Amino acid sequence: MQQPIRMVILGAGDRGRTYASYAAAHPDRVKIVGVADINPKAAQAVATAYHLPPEAVWGDWSEAVAARPDCDIMAVTMPDALHIEPAIACLDAGYHLLLEKPMGRTWAECERLAAKVHEKKNRLVILGHVLRYTVYFKKLKALLDSQAIGETVSIQHLEPVAYMHAAHSFCRGNWGNTERATPMILQKCCHDFDQFVWWLNKRCTGVSSFGNTFHFNASHRPAGAADRCLECPAAVERACPYSARKIYLERQDYRYPFVDKSDEAMKAMLQDGPYGRCVYACDNDAVDHQVVNLRFEGGVTVAHQMESYTYTGGRETKVFGTRGEIVGDGRKLTIYHFDTRTTEVWDSVLEAGAVQGSGHGGGDFGLMDELVHQLTEGDPAHYTDIFDVSLESHRIAFAAEDSRRANGALMLAD
Ligand SMILES: NC(=O)c1ccc[n+]([C@@H]2O[C@H](COP(=O)([O-])OP(=O)(O)OC[C@H]3O[C@@H](n4cnc5c(N)ncnc54)[C@H](O)[C@@H]3O)[C@@H](O)[C@H]2O)c1
Repeated sequence: MQQPIRMVILGAGDRGRTYASYAAAHPDRVKIVGVADINPKAAQAVATAYHLPPEAVWGDWSEAVAARPDCDIMAVTMPDALHIEPAIACLDAGYHLLLEKPMGRTWAECERLAAKVHEKKNRLVILGHVLRYTVYFKKLKALLDSQAIGETVSIQHLEPVAYMHAAHSFCRGNWGNTERATPMILQKCCHDFDQFVWWLNKRCTGVSSFGNTFHFNASHRPAGAADRCLECPAAVERACPYSARKIYLERQDYRYPFVDKSDEAMKAMLQDGPYGRCVYACDNDAVDHQVVNLRFEGGVTVAHQMESYTYTGGRETKVFGTRGEIVGDGRKLTIYHFDTRTTEVWDSVLEAGAVQGSGHGGGDFGLMDELVHQLTEGDPAHYTDIFDVSLESHRIAFAAEDSRRANGALMLAD
C-alpha cells in the first residue's frame, strides 16, 4: 500500500481528533480524507483542520460507510455502544480498521466481531490498546522476550487511575454508568490485560476478582453539599477534592474532551452539564477500586489492582522471573539480576528516538506508527494475531466482571 494511508474518522471527539492529529504531524504517512460526526461542530473542526470538501463530511457514521469513500482505513472512535456495528459494516465494506476499545459491550459482541475478523483475514483490525505501542512497555516486552530475568513466574501490576480522572470519567462522565457504557474493569483495564497477554504470550486459565463503589455514592455526601458544585456552599466546595470548580475552572488539563475550552464554555457546561454534578449525586455505578487475580497457561500468576484514589496516574509493575526481577515505575525500568547481583536502570525519557509528545506516553502516535508499518510493510498473515491478543484481553475483562459480581468466584477455569 502506498503512503500516505488515507483515513476516514468516524467520531470526531477526543480520540478521533487525537488520531487525526498524527496526519498533521506526519502528512507523508497518513492523510485524513473524511469525517463523520453527529455533532456538526466536531465534524467541522476536523473538516477545517484537514481541508476536507463538504462531500467528505457526514453526520451519522452509517452515511460515511454507505458513501464508500475512497480510503484505506476507517477509524471507529465513537462511544462504546457504537463500536461493534460500525466495525462490522466497515469490514464488510472492505476497509481496514482502527477500532477504539472496547471492541464490544458484551463477550457475545466480541465473539461476533472476532468471527468477522477471521473471515476477512487480510483486513487489519488494530484496537486502541495504545500502551502496547509506548517505548516504555515495548522495552519491558523486549526484556521479557529476551529472558533478561529468566522465565516469568508472576507479575504485580497497579493501575492508578488518579482521583480527578476517576471523578471526571468514571463518576460524572461517559463511563460512570455501566448500563450506558461498559464495566470499568473492561473500560480501563482491557489495556492492562492486553499487556499481560502480549508480554506472556499465553492464554488466561483462571480469574477471580473483587471490587465495589467504595466512595462515590450518596452515603459520603458532605453535609450541606448542593447537587451542583457551582451551587455548593464555599466552605463545603473548598474542602472537596472532587469539586468541579477545582477540576474544570481552576485547571486546564481536564478540558481536553471539549471542543470549546474557553472559561465561558466551561462555566456554562458546569451549570447544566453532567460534569457540573456533585460526585456524590451522580447516576454512577462504576467501581472505584477492583483487584483481579489471574492465572495463565503454565501457572504464571498476575495480581492486578485498579485504584481510583491515587494522586497521579502512571502504571507500576513488578515482574518476578527465575533469574531476576524488573521494577517499573511508568518511566524507568530497574532490572535486578540474581546471578551477578547487579542492577541496570533504563529510562524511557532518555531513550534515543523515544516517541514522546503524544498522549498515553507516546502510545497514541506509537499506535499510528504501527498502523502505518503494518499497512505498508506488515504481513497480512499476522493481522489476526494482532487482533487476537486484544480479544483475549476482553475475554479476561468480562470474566473479571462476572467474578466480581459473583463474589470472587473462579472464572475461565478449564
Ligand atoms: N484508547 C484509549 O486509551 C482510549 C481513551 C479514551 C477513550 N477511549 C475510547 O474511545 C471512544 C471514544 O471516546 P472519546 O473520549 O473520544 O469520546 P467523545 O465523546 O469525545 O467522542 C465521541 C464522538 O463520537 C460522536 N458520535 C456519537 N454518535 C455518533 C454517530 N452515530 N455517528 C458519528 N459520530 C457519532 C460524538 O458526537 C463524539 O464527537 C470510546 O469508546 C472510549 O472508550 C479510548
